[in-house]
Amino acid sequence: MNTTTQEPIAYNYKVVRQFTIATLIWGFLGMSMGAILAAQLVWPELNLNLPWTSFGRIRPIHTNLVIFAFGGCALIATSFFIVQRTSYARLPSDSAASVFFWAWQAMLVATVLSYALGYTTSKEYAEMEWPLALVLTVLWLIYTWLFFGTIMRRKTSHIYVANWFYGAFIVVTAMVHIINHIAIPVSLMKSYPVYAGATDAMVQWWFGHSVVGFILSVGFLGMMYYFVPKQVGRPIYSYRLSIVHFWAIISIYIWAGPHHLHYTALPDWVQSLGMAMSVILLAPSWGGMINGMMTLSGGWHKLRNDPILRFLVVSLAFYGMSTFEGPMMAIKTVNALSHYTDWTIGHVHAGALGWVAMISFGSLYHMIPRLWNHKQMYSIGLINLHFWLATAGTVIYIAAMWVNGITQGLMWRAINTDGTLSYSFVEALQASHAGYIARLLGGSLFVLGVFIMLVNTWLTLRQAAPQSAAVTQPAEI
Ligand code: HEM
Ligand code: HEM
Repeated sequence: MNTTTQEPIAYNYKVVRQFTIATLIWGFLGMSMGAILAAQLVWPELNLNLPWTSFGRIRPIHTNLVIFAFGGCALIATSFFIVQRTSYARLPSDSAASVFFWAWQAMLVATVLSYALGYTTSKEYAEMEWPLALVLTVLWLIYTWLFFGTIMRRKTSHIYVANWFYGAFIVVTAMVHIINHIAIPVSLMKSYPVYAGATDAMVQWWFGHSVVGFILSVGFLGMMYYFVPKQVGRPIYSYRLSIVHFWAIISIYIWAGPHHLHYTALPDWVQSLGMAMSVILLAPSWGGMINGMMTLSGGWHKLRNDPILRFLVVSLAFYGMSTFEGPMMAIKTVNALSHYTDWTIGHVHAGALGWVAMISFGSLYHMIPRLWNHKQMYSIGLINLHFWLATAGTVIYIAAMWVNGITQGLMWRAINTDGTLSYSFVEALQASHAGYIARLLGGSLFVLGVFIMLVNTWLTLRQAAPQSAAVTQPAEI
């Protein structure tokens, strides 16, 4: 990586700052919703007997807020930061960037309201009814143009690998969102998909797994490829491995969707293909994780007093763990035990809290002082506290869900000698109660950590007024 060039380049940091603040606010709100859901599973009375506060409506609010609001804003903020700095070019249009920011926030607010009011397609992660799905498509096209437009204006011959990952995330998200949302509207807020039966399920999980693969994995790997080397102060371990990693992961992820539909009406060979592709996926996933980890070679001692680096490294460890667990769960015999149980929820949050959220926190802690022209965050002690809360919270959350999941799976399949079930569903639920309390504790620690990050950011921003150099930065990448 070059470190300096002759002329300072004026980057658009305003939109990066806006998306950064939005990430933190949405993160706090979305994860608080998660904690409310966790509390409802301990005390169902917290549903309040009102439709808009019921579990069924708050759950998609949580998933959409953490994926598209928190995760989405984190990816957009970091992609704009990285693409400008590694291309030595400004975004093609400031006004389009500004419109994009405000329209994205308005769309998120409208989405939350629509779910609270009960408008939903009922397709997981694609619950937006057609007018909102249409708005998302238009905004995504603006994002695509802003991102690739910057790459087109680049002053370097090569395109840094992080941008390849962001690029794939942007293109594939557009593709699967559009195809999965093709529907016939029957009223302002109701539509029916053009697909039916097993085809509908297949398209939905082709989309669903691509959300996991291209938003929650490939997008955040883009973040990893920039911020890990920056924070360690060393180049990426192997540029060649990063290219192999890129092509392998994007060509395999798109086939893995059927593992969400094992033992369903989907043709058996499609299920087996999904299973095989999922097992193969372990290789590129670990290739990426190893590339990130090995970047620390010679710099491991920095972990002792750099909590930002700790966030980044621990996120890679959780990435490695969840991408080992996922292929195992995709094996049909294992899935026969894990499907419908809390094991899936544990796997989701090993990836979501341990990988997605932690890599975002590490990256934002690196970016925030640079965006507002400060030497460092207001308090390193608070970053450290956040790190331990997030790590402890994640471990408690996922351990509780593993115990619950395996208990549920085993209790549901246990049969007596006469062929009747050994346990009723309610007995399995009673056995899960302690795990739900532990999950609430773990989740609450995690949310507390995000709150501390918000306070630390606020204190950092308050330190001194930003200077003009925040807009015109030396072109260091
Ligand atoms: C403090 C943090 C969090 C808490 C307490 C929490 C809690 C929950 C709860 C209770 C559920 C419902 C589980 C069920 O239906 O049995 C859930 C679902 C889900 N959460 Fe979270 N969550 C948190 C953070 C996150 C983050 C950061 C992400 C993503 C980046 C995420 C993604 C999801 C997803 C995708 C589901 C649906 C899982 C499935 O259907 O299998 N959560 N969460
Ligand atoms: C090699 C990589 C991975 C593979 C092969 C994989 C495989 C799987 C499998 C088999 C399931 C259970 C499906 C079911 O029984 O219904 C699942 C669920 C899920 N995984 Fe992964 N996983 C991987 C990595 C990840 C990562 C890194 C994340 C990031 C957060 C993630 C997020 C999810 C989510 C959100 C679900 C729940 C989907 C739902 O039912 O709503 N996965 N995954």
